[in-house]
Amino acid sequence: MTRRKFWVTAGVALGAPALDAGYIEPRWLELSFVPCRLPHLAAPVRLLHLSDLHVSPLAPRSLVERAFDMGRETKPDLVCLTGDFITNGENFDVAWYESVLRRLSRSAPCYASMGNHDGGFWAHTHGGFGSTVEISELLRRGGIETLHNRAVDIQIAGQRLRLAGVGDLWSREIHAEAAFAGAPAPSTPSLLLSHNPDSKDHLGQYPWHLMLSGHTHGGQVSLPLIGTPFAPVRDHRYVEGLRPWRDRQIHVTRGVGSILGVRFNCRPQVSVLELMPSRVSS
Ligand SMILES: [Fe+2]
Repeated sequence: MTRRKFWVTAGVALGAPALDAGYIEPRWLELSFVPCRLPHLAAPVRLLHLSDLHVSPLAPRSLVERAFDMGRETKPDLVCLTGDFITNGENFDVAWYESVLRRLSRSAPCYASMGNHDGGFWAHTHGGFGSTVEISELLRRGGIETLHNRAVDIQIAGQRLRLAGVGDLWSREIHAEAAFAGAPAPSTPSLLLSHNPDSKDHLGQYPWHLMLSGHTHGGQVSLPLIGTPFAPVRDHRYVEGLRPWRDRQIHVTRGVGSILGVRFNCRPQVSVLELMPSRVSS
């Protein structure tokens, strides 16, 4: 190999992944349909699960708008958003955000939980809001109901569902007793919105069947043979996808935005859970 050929080959070998990670993948949304059997469900429910929008200069408006459009086009019965609506409390256009959220919420009932970037102890120590009030208000004006340590019973596809939501683990805002106050009727399918999948270890004694989480961004960088070394969780079994946990399930979406605008082998994701009745209800 000539010296020139060597440098061209090396340039391509190093440059192509960098181009992919910095410019192609962060904007290359994947629409994923995930079948999921849920105890006590009487009829199918299409649930759009979005997370980690991370609106900031590194997550362009067009990415969020396309993610919402992709989700709305699937005609969901229910939309759940599991936190990190912003990255640091600065540099986002409130009026624009409110309008796109309102367009999303017109398509189906929308519920949300808060992430570590949305305000509170963790965010405040990282240049963000001191509480979740600003983001909760933004969501309210956008037609989205925040489940911050509380639960609601809703009617979807002619049946009752329990939706509970907790505050963020890193923000020290999980108050499970409040979130699960007033137990659901015994045969009610119960979903839990909790930003960080590690929170499962604090929530095992409470009644839920399926937990919806984000936070990991799928690891953001997924390396062959190595995996996802940068995923910000203790339990690396729950970095993305639908996984069993005890007698329950946890779904972690890779999310839409990112930190630092880099993704490798880990595309942003619009997740659609096709909830179906269990063959044998437990
Ligand atoms: Fe996040």
